[in-house]
Amino acid sequence: MVSIIKDPGLKDKGEAMVSWAAEHMPALKEIVKSYKDNKPLENVKVGACLHITKETGAFMLALMELGASVALCASNPLTTQDEVAAYLSDNGVDVFGWRGENEIDYMAMIHKVIDSNPNIVIDDGGDLHSTIHKERLEALPYIWGGTEETTTGVVRLRVMEKEGKLKYPVIAVNDTPTKRIFDNKYGTGQSTVDGILRATSLLISGKTVVVCGYGYVGRGVASRFRGMGANVIVTEVDPIKALEAHMDGYRVMSLYEATKYGDIFITCTGMKDVIREEHLRQMKNHVILANAGHFNVEINIGALEKMAKEKKRIKPYVDQYILEDGRKIYLLAEGRLVNLVAAEGHPPEVMMNSFSNQLLSVIYIYENRDKLEPKVYDVPVEIDRSVAMYTLKGWNITIDELTEEQKKYWETW
Ligand code: ADE
Repeated sequence: MVSIIKDPGLKDKGEAMVSWAAEHMPALKEIVKSYKDNKPLENVKVGACLHITKETGAFMLALMELGASVALCASNPLTTQDEVAAYLSDNGVDVFGWRGENEIDYMAMIHKVIDSNPNIVIDDGGDLHSTIHKERLEALPYIWGGTEETTTGVVRLRVMEKEGKLKYPVIAVNDTPTKRIFDNKYGTGQSTVDGILRATSLLISGKTVVVCGYGYVGRGVASRFRGMGANVIVTEVDPIKALEAHMDGYRVMSLYEATKYGDIFITCTGMKDVIREEHLRQMKNHVILANAGHFNVEINIGALEKMAKEKKRIKPYVDQYILEDGRKIYLLAEGRLVNLVAAEGHPPEVMMNSFSNQLLSVIYIYENRDKLEPKVYDVPVEIDRSVAMYTLKGWNITIDELTEEQKKYWETW
């Protein structure tokens, strides 16, 4: 198929970006090295819907080195690195995506990936899986299974499974410890700071940052902002997570109450309408709103638009809304993932774990394609452990082993 990308001329820049990422993802290299000789993915067609970043580039090349052919589209209209798209396209990947797609093109590119008749589908957010299930049932006979990269996508898939609508097995890569602990926490934590800094270039120290949601993502975001000298307030709907945030030393209160204090609000929940009109009405002048969740639904942008008498883009990724009462509210990255839109997403060291899980899960689906049922599966524990081992090895970190005596000691209990 012919790629649809912004500019093939960007390929050299893309090569430098992907090489930089790959150099910092040694576990991915180790996995390729150990599987390469028998090309386990020969004749396997992979269809992927991922943020088209330099880290994704390294992952796509790893799949191809193991024999797969790959078609790739974007999992968000605003996050594609066009240089990477150009480089991958020049290196045999069918790429369908560019930065700044409208909603219609975004969906059309997902259909292009489905047109490639993939055997294994990799998704980030669930749009590819849901389009196949709702609109492209004719693709199902080719599909052995799929994987899902993110919390939002896994939530959607579990609902489909519960309703008996899931038509192929999916491995919930998001939920496995070597993904979730590192990617959701350290990855989103650092890259959200990065996105907000690149967009605003303001001082964090001394500001009051309100983190909505204290799951893995919220924990990471709260801890990185605290590390930069912010006063962090956490808001939650779950009493246990609220207690955890309290004992981690954050101020915890309702979002309505937090509007009195907050300078920067960051949504990290996966839920819609977290920041609503009633909150916007109470916020201070000059507050900044950003979202770190998968979809642009966490901040009610419709309410903000309705309340504003004027809207102006004052710099890339910063929209100023002037409200009837004269207050100014700034929305970053149009309410989309601020870490991927205004910055470059998670660092390669973090994506290494996530994509190593993906790579080994794809091989697992291929090898077990006749046994798996249309269910949501956890990543097998052996894969999770081996990802950790590959990463430790890549970083020259040694660990201890139980002695035979110690193993017996466990067993006698
Ligand atoms: N999700 C978050 N950060 C990412 C990155 N750098 N590449 C691909 N997907 C991501």
